[in-house]
Amino acid sequence: MEPTSLKVVLLGDSGVGKTCIIKQFVERKFDKGVLSSLSAQFVSKTIEYVDFGKAIKFDIWDTVGQEKYRSMTKIFYKDAKVIILVFDITSLKSFNSIEEYWVEELKNNCDESPVIAIVGNKTDLYSEKKVDVEDAKDLAKKMKAIFQLTSAKTSDGITTLFDNIGKKYLQPSYEYDAGEKEAKENYEKKKQKEKNTRIMLNKGNENNEADQGGENVKNKKGCC
Ligand code: GTP
Repeated sequence: MEPTSLKVVLLGDSGVGKTCIIKQFVERKFDKGVLSSLSAQFVSKTIEYVDFGKAIKFDIWDTVGQEKYRSMTKIFYKDAKVIILVFDITSLKSFNSIEEYWVEELKNNCDESPVIAIVGNKTDLYSEKKVDVEDAKDLAKKMKAIFQLTSAKTSDGITTLFDNIGKKYLQPSYEYDAGEKEAKENYEKKKQKEKNTRIMLNKGNENNEADQGGENVKNKKGCC
């Protein structure tokens, strides 16, 4: 399967976790160090989309803090097919930058209509959240963008993010609600785990009662 190459650019304030997201996706590692193949200016990873009979090679460009010199980043994203706008859920300023700066920049400077994803990173720090996730989802809806919550630290949401980007590229009408879907799946998994634990505890109690002569168990069964 000959892959289609897609230029992907990550944009957002310094420190939101762009490099770490790329590193987690490509190398399955979390640390602050530079990407091992940074000398090549971008790193690549190919995903096969069996349902579509296609493969996509993501060529991912890291702006390595160049948002400090925002005008310079134009050369990176002008011909990008995918733009990932990253904010840190613990920093309202980083989300405001997406709304107030990057969205306008993209409107004014992109040649084509790229696939856009809005990503709230650092969900492992959820208790320190400063951004209302609903606001971020609304912005994504307004921009017809993919929305995803991620943690480059735990890897939550990272594979889903690129999976959905590829699907959206291959089929623009692709229905997704990645953040919500994943949250729902995690919730269902947690509920099922709690249920299994309760069943095991109940069984344990019954066995204990049976071990202690079984009278209580018998009586209980008899009374209902
Ligand atoms: P620049 O290179 O300055 O543009 O920053 P960046 O957006 O590439 O951020 P980078 O990936 O360098 O991460 C910045 C800091 O945030 C580092 O100390 C990371 O360890 C930390 N970090 C990144 N992602 C996460 C995450 O998901 N959770 C937590 N807890 N920390 C993270």
